[in-house]
Order: sequence, then C-alpha cells, then structure tokens
Amino acid sequence: MPEHQCLLIVDFGSQVTQLIARRLRELNVYCEIHPFQNVTPDLLRARAPRAVILSGGPASVPDADSPRPPAEVFELGVPVLGICYGQQAMMQMLGGRVVRGEGSAEFGRAFVTRKTELDLLEGWFDGLESTGREQVWMSHGDHVDRIAPGFEVFATSPGAPFAVVADAARHFYGMQFHPEVHHTPKGRLLFENFVRIAGFDGDWTMAGYRDQAIQAIRDRVGDGKVICGLSGGVDSSVAAVLIHEAIGDQLTCVFVDHGLLRQGEAEEVVRMFGDHYNIPLIHADERDLFLDALDGVSDPETKRKTIGRLFIDVFQKHAAEVGGAEYLAQGTLYPDVIESVSFSGGPSVTIKSHHNVGGLPEKMGLKLIEPLRELFKDEVRELGRELGLPPSFIGRHPFPGPGLAIRCPGEITREKLDILRKADAVFIDQIRRHGLYDEIWQAFVAILPVRTVGVMGDGRTYDFACALRAVTSVDGMTADYYPFSHDFLGETATRIINEVPGINRVTYDITSKPPGTIEWE
Ligand code: XMP
Repeated sequence: MPEHQCLLIVDFGSQVTQLIARRLRELNVYCEIHPFQNVTPDLLRARAPRAVILSGGPASVPDADSPRPPAEVFELGVPVLGICYGQQAMMQMLGGRVVRGEGSAEFGRAFVTRKTELDLLEGWFDGLESTGREQVWMSHGDHVDRIAPGFEVFATSPGAPFAVVADAARHFYGMQFHPEVHHTPKGRLLFENFVRIAGFDGDWTMAGYRDQAIQAIRDRVGDGKVICGLSGGVDSSVAAVLIHEAIGDQLTCVFVDHGLLRQGEAEEVVRMFGDHYNIPLIHADERDLFLDALDGVSDPETKRKTIGRLFIDVFQKHAAEVGGAEYLAQGTLYPDVIESVSFSGGPSVTIKSHHNVGGLPEKMGLKLIEPLRELFKDEVRELGRELGLPPSFIGRHPFPGPGLAIRCPGEITREKLDILRKADAVFIDQIRRHGLYDEIWQAFVAILPVRTVGVMGDGRTYDFACALRAVTSVDGMTADYYPFSHDFLGETATRIINEVPGINRVTYDITSKPPGTIEWE
C-alpha cells in the first residue's frame, strides 16, 4: 500500500466526526480516525501524523473521568486543531480552564466576529466588510473561560468568548464551533487553510482509497470465502465489485428477492449483473418466507428486525451451500452507521435500525465485511466510477434493504404491495419522461394505511391514498423535497389514479430531512 502523508483524527465520539474525514478527503488529504482510547504514544510514533485534529464529543471536560488525548500529541511539533470538545480538552491540558454551561450554551446557528488576523482564518471574513461576522454551527454546553498560556483569541461569538483561539507560533488552534458541518458555510476554507499550514500536498485520491480498501479486504479474508448481499442498488454493487477485485472467485453474490422489490427489479438486477460481470450470483426467491413472517406486523422496528433476521437466515443457508463462507459483505454506508449506533460503541444515538446494521442478530455466525462503512453516498458513486461500473448502476436511486416494507406504513399485505409497485412504476416513469431522474436523489411512492372516498365515473370508490416522495440530497443525511411543477404533479396524480386500480387519492410529501426522514418508516 502506498504511504501517504497522514492526518490523525482523535475521535471523542461526536456525531459528526466522519464529516471531518470527509472534508479532508475532499481536499485529497489522507486521514485516519482513531477513538481516543486507542491513541497511544506508540500509535502516534507509528503513524507519524503531519497534523492532528481533536474531534467534538458528548463528554464534559470538567468531569473527572472525561477523555483526553495523550499529552504527546502536543509534543509532536505538528499543527493541532481542536474542535468543540477537542478545543476544550486542549485548553484544559495546556493550562487553561473549562467551565460548565450555565447560560453560555449555544446550539445551532451562531455568528462569530473576527478580532485579529490569523493564518487559519485567512480569507474567512473576506466579503464580510459590512457585517464583519461569519455564520457557524455551534453545539456546546460548557465553554472555555480561561485560555492556556501562549494562546490568543482571534474570534468571538456571543456565547463563546473564545470561539477561535490559537498559539500561532506552535500552530495549535481551537474552535468552539464545528467547521466540518454543512451549516458552517465556509468551514471548508478553515480545513483548506489548516492542511496548507500543515504542509499537505493533497496526494490522496479515490484511486488511493480503492487500493487501500482492496488491500484491507485481502488482509482480512486471506483465502476465506465471502458472500455478498446484492440488492442491485449502488452500494451493494460497488461493494461486490470492489471485493471481487480483491479476492476474485472467493466471492459469491446472493440476491434475495424478499417480495418487497419494485416492479421488474429482480429480473433487472440479475440481468444487469449477468451482462456486466462474471461474479457467481445466486438468485434466492424467498418471497413467501418474508411476506409470511411480516403478516400482521405493523410496528416499523419489528418490521426492520424481522427482515434483518430473515436476511441473515437466507445468507447463512447460502453460505453453507457455497462451501462454508465465513464472511458476509454488505454495502453499509456511514450514514447508516451513525444513525444506528449508540454512544457506548461509538458516536451518536440510535434513530432507527437499518437492516444492514442494527437489525442484525448478534450471533449470526458470519463475520461482517463492510468496505464502504466510512463513505458517503456520493463518495461511493465516485468509487464506483473508479472501479469502472457502468453509469446505469452508478446513477440508480438508492433503494433501502427492507424495500417496500418501509414504504407501506402499517400492515403489509400482498394486495397493498401490488398496488404500491404499480403506482411507483408510474411515478418513476413520469420522472424519466420529464428528464428529471438524475436531478433527484431518490423518488418513490408510499401507500398509506388509509382508505378514502372518491368518485370515478358515476360510482363511489373507497380506495387507498398514496404519497409521492422525491427529494434532493448530497449524502442522504439531510434532504429537501423536489420542487415539481404543479403541472407535473397533476399529470402524475391523474396517471396513477387512471392506471392503478386501488388508489383514488394522491398526495405529495413536502417534508425536509430533518425533521422528517426520507423513508416513511
Ligand atoms: P432515511 O429514511 O433514514 O433514509 O432518511 C436515508 C437513506 O437511507 C436509506 N435507508 C436504508 N437503506 N437499509 C438500507 O440499506 C435501511 O434499513 C434503510 N433505511 C433507510 C433511504 O432509502 C435513504 O436513501
């Protein structure tokens, strides 16, 4: 594996630590995230980072057992950037003081004002002559109330008198806000300045990521066998092709038809993979298994857990068939991870169990391989291009593992699924006809657990209502509804009602994420 200049991120458990890595990858900087417990002097020596970033985190510096980086971080002679909790830990360790919130908490949007020029802030306040202040995103209860010797204050905000502090001589920087999030609009510039100060050449690319991932798969698997759950979506296709490059025919793909796929999907996926790749593929028709188990289930978490459990049963069966595969590969992405993991195991709280992460039974007897776990969707697409996947794979809208089950709130019946599949096909056809498919992150129909009264011809109808969902997004973490024209919406509603027996009312979901999620369950 080629050696790259390394930036080390010490993770204190912030929900957005991976966004730091992402910002750095955008700048072609190679970085590694290590949980604070693992950052030992030995690790520092081995990795020889050219710079260190201390992440945010949920702990409170004044607490006796709150985490710290090793003191050696400040003796490496390299630039160090502390973000939020990272800033506070740095201040406390280097002789300053952090106090509990009490009135100084800031959550959400805030504005910082410059006090003095600083290399890290170069260009940051440009164009702000009239206001002199820049928007940032804050999320802190405690705050620094005395800075460490050698440090100066370079920017302030109403709740954080030490919004940006620095010991410019040693290149130690601390900021109370989060430059890594989208809501700090000029955050990227701060990272750009930081890596420039640290002397990074920008020698890291997706090709480098691919090589590293392939090597990691080979090291982990050796001559073992792997099965990969293939859904036909971008993530599992990229994971499969990547693993195939790493270990060739030690990989078998399993495509499970759980009866919750879209119209024509099973045939399409099997054909696409068969046409383009020479990877052994098992097409498991398990429709009855899943739909019987879901009969009468209406709770969203129970649905997800049931589907997750059955997926594993099916994979285990096929793992045995291909001669004892020990590994199960999945295309889990980072947003799935942070929305599913609780703090004890890493960052963030559980929002819902994604079937390919939180819904897994603990003892499944297969070891998991998740080569895309650190990536966001747009990065997976870039990796897919790097691997030479055809554009038809790369451009497909995401489709969730639990499939139509989470687009059918309430009880799932075969009848509802059939109606849903037809309505969804009309909606997607409309989007394609109007040339909008590539502008939209994801579009689908949800069938609602409610019947409404209508009139068609001279008769009364009592059929299902459905909701159209179409969103724009960069990474699935936040999303906005797509602003279709009224003409488009009207035409689509008419087509669905005319072409899909069983639906007599069409609504359009205009909720953003947050507060909504993209899927309905
Ligand atoms: P939400 O609904 O959480 O969706 O805003 C964000 C993205 O994730 C997809 N999604 C899933 N994908 N297994 C998956 O493979 C799941 O359990 C799952 N739940 C949501 C969703 O389609 C969207 O692209």
